[in-house]
Amino acid sequence: MPATNGKVKVGIIGSQFEADIHAASFQLMPEEAEVVAVSSPTPGNAQKLAEKHSIPRVFTDYREMLKEPDIEMVTITAPNRLHAQMTIDIANAGKHVVCEKPLCMTLAEADEMIDTCRRKGVILGYAEELFFTPKYVKAKEMADQGGFGKIHMVKQSEKHFGPHSPWFWDMTQAGGGAMMDLGCHGIAFCYWFLGRPAIKSVYAQLGTYVHRDKTKGDDDAICIVEFENGAIGMIECSWAKRGGMSDRTEIYGEGGVTYADLHMGNALPTYSEYGFGYAVEKAPTTNGWSYPVFEEHWNYGIPQEMRHFARVVRGKETLQASGEDGRIVMQALYAAYASAGAGQKIHMPYIPKTDMPIKEWLGEDVK
Ligand SMILES: NC(=O)c1ccc[n+]([C@@H]2O[C@H](COP(=O)([O-])OP(=O)(O)OC[C@H]3O[C@@H](n4cnc5c(N)ncnc54)[C@H](O)[C@@H]3O)[C@@H](O)[C@H]2O)c1
Repeated sequence: MPATNGKVKVGIIGSQFEADIHAASFQLMPEEAEVVAVSSPTPGNAQKLAEKHSIPRVFTDYREMLKEPDIEMVTITAPNRLHAQMTIDIANAGKHVVCEKPLCMTLAEADEMIDTCRRKGVILGYAEELFFTPKYVKAKEMADQGGFGKIHMVKQSEKHFGPHSPWFWDMTQAGGGAMMDLGCHGIAFCYWFLGRPAIKSVYAQLGTYVHRDKTKGDDDAICIVEFENGAIGMIECSWAKRGGMSDRTEIYGEGGVTYADLHMGNALPTYSEYGFGYAVEKAPTTNGWSYPVFEEHWNYGIPQEMRHFARVVRGKETLQASGEDGRIVMQALYAAYASAGAGQKIHMPYIPKTDMPIKEWLGEDVK
């Protein structure tokens, strides 16, 4: 039987990039939860992650992991197209779900995920770490205290030179390009920052500028989200920006402004003739000038995010990042791709015409 107190026992689905971050993040804030199992289909991969993070149980089929009676919460770090089925399987096993972004591929999937979790009485946490990123949380605290007066614009941008795994570039597995992969953070951030006002319209300009050899998906995007309270969200995202990850926000109100750059404020401007181990996520080299970050997971907010979900499971906090948030982001993503397809602003609520966001822009030919 699952415990009702003590540390929340966690299983992770997936063993690569984000799984490693989840495992490390639970270890950084170990007082609320512990990872007891990991599952990944490629033989040996889950074992490797388990050895790195001292995770006792290893599975190749996540459905076998879901049979473990003591596991209470399962985090999903698998490709986007698998999020819905995995969430439903986890909920049907009576376990709480933490699903990585973007929530899924279609609004129908989002509804089924939300309904199943509700019926089974389990939480559906949407892993949007920007709601927990310390620098961004500080910006929101200042805004909520009235420091900037009425806010009319929130800008959020996330850019790098493209994802590390082949499936992201395959639109049938990812559902969209940079807009979907990174713009989902920006949409969620603006919505959350402004106190979750309804979205009135979405406009997006998408292009594939640098990676045409690799993908049909957009590798650069600009998106303008208009909210019912009159404020504008301005989202920029890119898979075509050289030099490693950049994540920043700017908040403009009638009484003030703040700028938050996640990497630069926390970096060590560094020159190295010889190179060294690691500078920052997705930086291709450490030779010459680089901007190494420290306590990277902490500065992104992922340990704080995972701790929050564990505390929700124990009834110590109320859910701050939910499946419903993920659904709102999905609907705005569909509108963004539809806007690029139509070359005009899309009024909300937008009813998707296709089964993945990218098709609203490109039509059926996404392979
Ligand atoms: N919050 C963030 O900032 C952030 C960052 C990176 C990735 N993500 C999200 O996390 C998810 C995973 O991305 P990633 O970068 O870790 O990808 P990845 O390619 O590095 O890892 C994917 C993992 O999924 C596993 N997998 C594939 N098919 C599976 C199946 N049928 N059953 C179980 N596991 C399966 C793979 O074996 C692999 O371990 C994506 O949805 C991505 O958008 C979020």
